[in-house]
Amino acid sequence: MQPPRLLLLLFLPLLLPGMWADPEAEPQVLQLLQTSFITNFSSAEMSGVALLGDVPIFALDPANWSIHFHWPWARQATAEGDAEKIKSHSKLFLRNMVRYVHEMAQQVQCNYPLVVQIRAGCVLHPNRTSWGFMDVGEGGRDLIAFEMERQHWEPRQSSPLAELVSKSLTSKKAITAFMEHLLSISCQSYILTLCRYGRADLERQEPPVATVFSRTPKPDQLLLVCRVTGFYPRSISVAWLQDGQEVLPGPALNTSAILPNADLTYQLRSILAVAPHDGHSYACRVRHRSLGTRSLLIPWENHSIAPTVGIAIAVLLLLATASAGGFWWWKRRKGEEATWEIQEFII
Ligand SMILES: *[C@@H]1O[C@H](CO)[C@@H](O)[C@H](O)[C@H]1NC(C)=O
Ligand SMILES: *[C@@H]1O[C@H](CO)[C@@H](O)[C@H](O)[C@H]1NC(C)=O
Ligand SMILES: *[C@@H]1O[C@H](CO)[C@@H](O)[C@H](O)[C@H]1NC(C)=O
Ligand SMILES: *[C@@H]1O[C@H](CO)[C@@H](O)[C@H](O)[C@H]1NC(C)=O
Repeated sequence: MQPPRLLLLLFLPLLLPGMWADPEAEPQVLQLLQTSFITNFSSAEMSGVALLGDVPIFALDPANWSIHFHWPWARQATAEGDAEKIKSHSKLFLRNMVRYVHEMAQQVQCNYPLVVQIRAGCVLHPNRTSWGFMDVGEGGRDLIAFEMERQHWEPRQSSPLAELVSKSLTSKKAITAFMEHLLSISCQSYILTLCRYGRADLERQEPPVATVFSRTPKPDQLLLVCRVTGFYPRSISVAWLQDGQEVLPGPALNTSAILPNADLTYQLRSILAVAPHDGHSYACRVRHRSLGTRSLLIPWENHSIAPTVGIAIAVLLLLATASAGGFWWWKRRKGEEATWEIQEFII
């Protein structure tokens, strides 16, 4: 089975590091992700979300197709300019879209259910140029894509449905011109308005928390694990240092993808395979925007160097405690004796 490329496309901007972290220096991506599950002629389920970078802006209520904002500032920003008009027409647009899908599906005799996914939005570069995009998928595969410059809908698979839909949409000049306006001018100005209203939340920074521990899957292999979590924005650098030198990528080093936490922070782990008792020192180094020019440096404490050392320390501690206790008991007794002496003296 061919992997659903559209799904990859949908999340590609989330995988690119630091997509919007610094509004002055990095491109910003605003995108609407929408899925329609069309079971038959009279029933369609909708879900949708709009994201600026990885920050949710609004979501489509599946129950009544109305729009819910994630932030008060997102509502304020949307009330300005074209966005409000688009919002008020969104239900009409969705209804028309479902009708259009039925029409197309009937012509090529597609089987229900149909799952239609749309990804639409724009990338705004720091030099204020923007690039709009709209991709449509069906059944988890790319179907058609809008080409802005040529005002053309391009089939992305060789199927009767893709051919028909791209030809049909390209011939609708009014729709094409509207899409172009929406994906360039409206989208760009919406990004700028959102950034103006939501600066505090969009520029939020959470420092990473890092821990280092080890695992011994085999007697001759030691895995050093550096777990880094709770950071925002997404872009981060995690490296292992061996005797202060950065370990270069290789078979011994395995760093996970950056995964989201539930609170819109991120986590990842980096695992370094080493030989036990190799005599080197290891530390995990984390760099992140929230730390400024500082780095987190977490050394791996080799607790298992020699268990006898640990036992010796424990025995010494026990002895120290015991002698301290003995001394206290002796002092207390002496004190009691002294008190008795004093009491005797007073009496
Ligand atoms: C359409 O699908 C819905 C949900 O699956 C179902 O409840 C309904 O009976 C179907 N209607 C028709 C006309 O098939
Ligand atoms: C849509 O449904 C939600 C609950 O699912 C409700 O809170 C909201 O008021 C509804 N909106 C409209 C316009 O009916
Ligand atoms: C603006 O920046 C983008 C990305 O860096 C670049 O591709 C584009 O050519 C630039 N446009 C202009 C007019 O400088
Ligand atoms: C990296 O870790 C993943 C998940 O733990 C594992 O599936 C993969 O085999 C590892 N790769 C290497 C090169 O050790």
